[in-house]
Amino acid sequence: MSDAPRRFHPFARKPIDVLIQEMNAGSRLHRVLGPWALTALGVGATVGAGIYVLTGEIAHNIAGPSLMLSMLLAAVGCGLAALCYSEMASMVPVAGSCYTYAYATMGEMVAWIIGWDLILEYAIGSSVVAVGWGNYMVSALDSIFGVAIDPRWTSSPWVFTPEHGFHFKLVTLANGLQSQAFCNLPAALICLLITVILVIGIKESARFNAAMVILNLAIIGFIICVGAFYIRPSNWVPFYHPKHGYGGVTEGAAKIFFAYIGFDSISTHSEEAKNPSKDLAFGIIASLIICTVLYMGATAVLTGMVPSSMIDPDAPMASAFRDRGLPFAGSFISVGIILGITSALLVGMLSQPRILLAMARDGMLPHRIFAEVHPKYQTPWKSTILVGFVVAGAGALAPLGFLAELVSVGTLFAFVVVCASVMILRWRSPEVHRPFRVPFLPLVAGFGILFNGGLMFSLGRDNWIRLIVWLGLGMLVYFGYSRHHTREPINA
Ligand code: ALA
Repeated sequence: MSDAPRRFHPFARKPIDVLIQEMNAGSRLHRVLGPWALTALGVGATVGAGIYVLTGEIAHNIAGPSLMLSMLLAAVGCGLAALCYSEMASMVPVAGSCYTYAYATMGEMVAWIIGWDLILEYAIGSSVVAVGWGNYMVSALDSIFGVAIDPRWTSSPWVFTPEHGFHFKLVTLANGLQSQAFCNLPAALICLLITVILVIGIKESARFNAAMVILNLAIIGFIICVGAFYIRPSNWVPFYHPKHGYGGVTEGAAKIFFAYIGFDSISTHSEEAKNPSKDLAFGIIASLIICTVLYMGATAVLTGMVPSSMIDPDAPMASAFRDRGLPFAGSFISVGIILGITSALLVGMLSQPRILLAMARDGMLPHRIFAEVHPKYQTPWKSTILVGFVVAGAGALAPLGFLAELVSVGTLFAFVVVCASVMILRWRSPEVHRPFRVPFLPLVAGFGILFNGGLMFSLGRDNWIRLIVWLGLGMLVYFGYSRHHTREPINA
């Protein structure tokens, strides 16, 4: 890479043919993933803390049983974006996902913004997953082995409410006294453990992922099939949340959107797809359909088993079975969920360094840190360790709801950009071969922008402010470092 001074081209685009040349050049990843392995990756990355943890809080506080409709609404927004992702991923099958798509369509500065934004989706998203993992681990240790961990070490030191902002979190100790929480140690520890595994080279082998996905499917299948016998239809009445009414459905959709994040991570594995032009689109759409069906079923069962006002916000699925006199099922579910959430965490923490790697290859980030591969383990070890510490730190210290909303608003923004990129590229480069084409393009992509943009609005003004602050920080890095180091050649 040349360090020669370059002219400032914030709107310079990376031509599609350069992307394709780079993709065919050496030192790329192995193409080992077929359509079902990609689908398994998508499902593995998607099913996690969202369905197993966040459903509890959202049904309890915002949507009640109408969370089922929220699930459907969020799936529609994701479906529109999934079609756009499919066209982009099959046309530009290079690691980097929508960072790369933005570079090809809207230029260097927007690409940087999106790459920076994706840190919210993958790194901060992984922190949320880690907190969910910690909740189930604490619940399982207590219910199965009778081991109660000091609650000061299992919770973030702060709580966050939109009305009062951050305030210190008090927990109740075994002796009944209240005390300040210190940090969420289980969440931090699992992140550090996964970092070690990722550095020494456990790759997302198709077999490992398939095993995790089968486990996840078995657990959700168990929840749906066994839980169905314990549904009391009276728990679905009133259907809408008593306080939020219909508004709870849209607010719930924006909040539960987090549960769907992950199907798009298939596009970060483009370089490993055997037949990227076909299989990526298949994997993205198939994993979204599978998750939507499972989520609707699991939500119907959860809200049908327990009155929404009594759902446990920390470990809702396992607690619902315990509350209905099935402690064994509750324990079985807890253990399965812990393993299932681990796969979402693993894939999230694996995807983040890949996006940073794509950015470093373009000179947007320091090559020595983000693109250097370990001589023995063949992994981007420095960035994996850095990501591991950031994810562990956020998981230990920040409250779950605050992080989840930040992740959702960031990911929705990325979805809006992908929908826009598809339209721009059809207009600018109509000649490029598109193995998958979005049907009824202006309509589907336009609705994708409106729908996902609408969900961003439903998350409330504070989330916009947080997103803007985050992107503002990103601009400081861009103007301080990246714009001086991005590589030529690019289209001005
Ligand atoms: N969708 C993923 C989860 O719910 C991020 O954990």
